[in-house]
Amino acid sequence: MEVKTFGVIGAGQMGNGIAQVAAMSGLQVIMNDIKEEFVQRGLNNITGILSKNVEKGKMTAEEKSAVLGRIKTSVNLQDLEAADYVVEAATENQPIKFKIFQDLDKICSPETILASNTSSIPIGRIAAQTKRPEKVIGMHFMNPVPVMKLVEVIRGLATSDETFKVTWDLSIKFGKTPAESSDFPGFIANRILMPMINEAVYALYHGVGTPEAIDTVMKLGMNHPMGPLTLADLIGLDTCLAIMETLYEGFCDSKYRPCPLLRKYVEAGWLGRKSGRGFYEYK
Ligand code: CAA
Repeated sequence: MEVKTFGVIGAGQMGNGIAQVAAMSGLQVIMNDIKEEFVQRGLNNITGILSKNVEKGKMTAEEKSAVLGRIKTSVNLQDLEAADYVVEAATENQPIKFKIFQDLDKICSPETILASNTSSIPIGRIAAQTKRPEKVIGMHFMNPVPVMKLVEVIRGLATSDETFKVTWDLSIKFGKTPAESSDFPGFIANRILMPMINEAVYALYHGVGTPEAIDTVMKLGMNHPMGPLTLADLIGLDTCLAIMETLYEGFCDSKYRPCPLLRKYVEAGWLGRKSGRGFYEYK
């Protein structure tokens, strides 16, 4: 199966990054979101990154125009009927994702593969919303998408070998390295990463250290590119909380309980970089 037209649902920080790497690989892209201002913001972000690439001499102005020319924006899900492959990168909210998959299942051709960029919701649960569970798969990119080399590819119980191969090959086409994970809560990446971030929030909650001290210890002591609280602000504290809740619910194990301070920040609207405030302030 050859993928020519690639759909992305959600133009937020993950969605616009996925749209960018897909367009850079030569695919025609449809980037969809629920509001015009969201798709425009996503497109502006892509334009900004590509312009920096031109300034740095990593691409020519013509290549930038060609990449942008391959991205069509959309606020109507019906436009996805033209796609051979769709990745959903909407907010990490189960009912919202379920509705998108129910709708895509009706809109898209029966041949179209429907992938989710979910960071922790079981793929089998998402696939069950459709009449094509063999064509549903997890394609989990890391943030920031244009920079991070990994794509976690998650097979649901019913995912076919063909769906898996197309997804694996697409990840390579996008310049990424795929790694296979089974369909368990949090898959591999977030099962390991998120408890570490949650523990860093507990360290702050218990007064073990300031945010700066916690991040410095992990950055310089463990050679991580950024400290866990800075990383949580980048990922979004709402997303971190949603993932911890999925792990806690999925494994029924108290070692995954979300830190009350994380919940408190999310309830206050302190969601990290995207809201201007998380463990740090962003102007
Ligand atoms: N979009 C595009 N490019 C970006 C970018 C972004 N948001 N942020 C940084 N870059 C680029 C910069 O332009 C720069 O490019 P050049 O090499 O061409 O100059 C390069 O990345 C390095 O950036 P900086 O020099 O500004 O900063 P850095 O060296 O600290 O790198 C980083 C930034 C790549 C984000 C690095 O700090 C890092 O790897 N952090 C950890 C990120 C991480 O762990 N991500 C996974 C999160 S978990 C996840 O996503 C899964 C989930 O489900 C929650």
